[in-house]
Amino acid sequence: MGAGWSEEELYDALNVALIVGGSTVIPHLRHAVETIDRACLSTACPSLNSDSFRKGRTVMSNTDTTAELFKLAMAAEEAAEDLYLGLKAKFAHQPDVADFWREYAKEEVGHACWLESVRDKSSPEQLSAPADPSMLNDARKFLRRSPQHALEEIANLEDAYQLANELENSEINVVFEFIITNFSSDESAGSFLRSQLRDHIARLVTDFPARFTSAASRQAVKALD
Ligand SMILES: [Fe+2]
Repeated sequence: MGAGWSEEELYDALNVALIVGGSTVIPHLRHAVETIDRACLSTACPSLNSDSFRKGRTVMSNTDTTAELFKLAMAAEEAAEDLYLGLKAKFAHQPDVADFWREYAKEEVGHACWLESVRDKSSPEQLSAPADPSMLNDARKFLRRSPQHALEEIANLEDAYQLANELENSEINVVFEFIITNFSSDESAGSFLRSQLRDHIARLVTDFPARFTSAASRQAVKALD
């Protein structure tokens, strides 16, 4: 990370601050943790914060081209990242759960990177061609929902789990799969990315911390404000 500190060293320092400062420092720590996470995730995919990525997300708006579909799909992955980072902050008091949400946030960054890479390998003719109207519609519908608003309604871990399930089974992953299938440079790359996506969705069930596999156990864990 920047400033010569590793992520692990920064978390160690924050843990010391918590021990010394007690509960009054928790809001400050949560802010610090979110900032570190953003920095780490951006490092994992440096181009996400680059000018070219931002431009890619803003050019050709209000059009119905394939470039617009890529832009919307990448914005949706960023919204999913925001949502999972928000869940991580809301369950910071349950470290295994917080780690689980953090891993999901990191994977959403990966999805945006994949889309960016597929877009960059597409020809100008492909990108300026009309996009599938139903895919555009699904992506726009997904983006109308604010991650912040969704997070405000999370009262306990069951709410969070259901929200993640809803997201992972929403149209936005259909859009992602459509793009990967239709625009990957070769079939093996496309099938690899599709299998990665399915694995990502399946792990919500298979890898969720074992002590919270029942709805009742999740309902008992209150979210932080
Ligand atoms: Fe995703």
